[in-house]
Amino acid sequence: MPKETSRRDFLRTAAGAGAVLALISGKSPELFGESTPGEDTATEAEKYGIVMANLPYEEAGLDPWISEKTVRLHYFKHHRGYYSMLRAFIHSHPEYQRQTLEDLIRNYQGKVLLDETIFEVAVLLYNHNWYWPSLSPTGGGTPKGKIGQLITVGYGSYDTFRTAFIEESMKLGVGWVWVVRDGEEVKVYRSDYHDTPLLKGYDPLLAVDVWEHAYYLDYENDRKKYVEAVLDHLLNWTYAEKMLITASSGK
Ligand SMILES: [Fe+2]
Repeated sequence: MPKETSRRDFLRTAAGAGAVLALISGKSPELFGESTPGEDTATEAEKYGIVMANLPYEEAGLDPWISEKTVRLHYFKHHRGYYSMLRAFIHSHPEYQRQTLEDLIRNYQGKVLLDETIFEVAVLLYNHNWYWPSLSPTGGGTPKGKIGQLITVGYGSYDTFRTAFIEESMKLGVGWVWVVRDGEEVKVYRSDYHDTPLLKGYDPLLAVDVWEHAYYLDYENDRKKYVEAVLDHLLNWTYAEKMLITASSGK
């Protein structure tokens, strides 16, 4: 299928031209409303992992560090918007219905035909699926366990790691800061715009969204204060330890 045909079909069947322009410009999907995925492909899509991660705590569970209002807007508008758009695209393009979310992203990198806009939506869905379990009402602080040891080995101390994480978050226009496993190392990785560690061969362990919609209602333009709050009070090191063990065992 020609690339332009694919893009035109999506514009007709999903959220429309305004949606795509808003998405590319980083604006919120709620500005244009949500598309409705086809019910007949719901089960098939879910079977292949085209899902929206559950929110693993109450909507007010991250308060006061991230407000209920921000969580509701971020999860139910932004995240669900990307999910709905991808599902609508897959619904109207059966050739993509038997690929996992990870495969859709990797295949684009491998030059297999996939509309660029849909690739970006797939990355945004994938990254957001990592974000919510990366936070916890009882998280934050110095990690223990194997991941704590590897951070000390790599950075000398947790404080040095914390400084590196904040520095990376402040370099971005929009994007994500991750804790990833790279071979035997655990390190900070910055993914700009629609990048994801999946494309670099790293195993994600934790993700922090630093797009403005993640913090602006609570911190206005003070991104550093938001990232510090996440590091000190929310980052889910228990989850990271589980992901590290899974990655180390070769999945
Ligand atoms: Fe986000």
